[in-house]
Amino acid sequence: MHELVQEYYGKQLQQTSDLKTSACCDITLVPEWLKPLLANIHPEVLSRYYGCGLVCPPLLEGCRVLDLGCGSGRDVYALAQLVGPKGLVVGVDMTAEQLAIACEHQAYHVEKFGYGNVKFIQGYIEKLDELDLAANSFDVIVSNCVVNLSPDKLAVLAGVQRLLKPGGELFFSDVYADRRVPDSVKNDPVLYGECLGGALYWNDFLRIAKQAGFIDPRLVTDRPLEITDPELAPRVGKLAFYSATYRLFKIAELEDACEDHGQAVIYKGSVPELADEFILDSHHTIETGKVFPVCGNTYRMLSETRFASHFEFIGDFSRHFGLFAGCGTEIPFTKSQPTEGGAACC
Ligand SMILES: C[S@@+](CC[C@H](N)C(=O)[O-])C[C@H]1O[C@@H](n2cnc3c(N)ncnc32)[C@H](O)[C@@H]1O
Repeated sequence: MHELVQEYYGKQLQQTSDLKTSACCDITLVPEWLKPLLANIHPEVLSRYYGCGLVCPPLLEGCRVLDLGCGSGRDVYALAQLVGPKGLVVGVDMTAEQLAIACEHQAYHVEKFGYGNVKFIQGYIEKLDELDLAANSFDVIVSNCVVNLSPDKLAVLAGVQRLLKPGGELFFSDVYADRRVPDSVKNDPVLYGECLGGALYWNDFLRIAKQAGFIDPRLVTDRPLEITDPELAPRVGKLAFYSATYRLFKIAELEDACEDHGQAVIYKGSVPELADEFILDSHHTIETGKVFPVCGNTYRMLSETRFASHFEFIGDFSRHFGLFAGCGTEIPFTKSQPTEGGAACC
């Protein structure tokens, strides 16, 4: 699969518009705040963008960020402006042609930004331990439309788990399917190259993430992908594909369900550009100044990460009140007693 993908991204595709599906994010989806950052990036780098989402979480200043499958470097150069001169962004990709473009324009970006804080490494994202990267050394790892292309997704996530600092996160966009992808789609070279053939069934992704130690994956955004190409659509059949952004925190104490310890948080409104609300994920939009009840896992995602100083924390883990209501898991047992005459016995 590596050779097929290298051929597709290194030789066949020359620019974004060569893609045959809408897996790639179109410019209308780019938020206003990102546009001035993209305007600083070299046009040739922008023209070879093949991502499917946005991989710029808030509060990156001074962070060490790793981009898995960075391609020609669009996200690396956007992130470089967000981490600033005290931060570092490292891009890893296996395809020489993509990396050549990223490296060719390094001096251009140093001049544009007024500092140099990026590094590119050629390598495989399944073999991160073979690269010269120290364990527990990254605050944030991102990836944009790449993990689906990997033949060994568990190895990728295990490598990420090793490289993240405790409290760090993998914030990444990728393509998922509504069911397991059949071999006819998986073995179709164009569908694979277009990030569909290797897409994980979303629930299998959750299983693999948990296996790699990311116990509570959080969905941030998602959108359906349209397969409109008249040649590809019939080959895909009833399968539905989505682009989704997940965040996976490296926090050892996370539990496999949202447990209620009677805790709450108050957002101070202090993250730059997020004065009114803080969005942790698609289920947690936390309004500034409001007491916001949270489960133990959400409490830890805010108190044991780079977000801690932007919240007040109420409560601790000394008491337990059962499952946290509304987090997707409910007590499976009937809550009321059987009525008189009803069968209490099995
Ligand atoms: C769909 S493109 C996305 C590129 C980039 N993230 C972007 O948004 O433009 C996929 C990229 O991942 C790289 N890639 C795919 N599988 C990889 C692997 N196993 N190891 C390293 N890089 C890989 C490809 O070389 C290609 O540059």
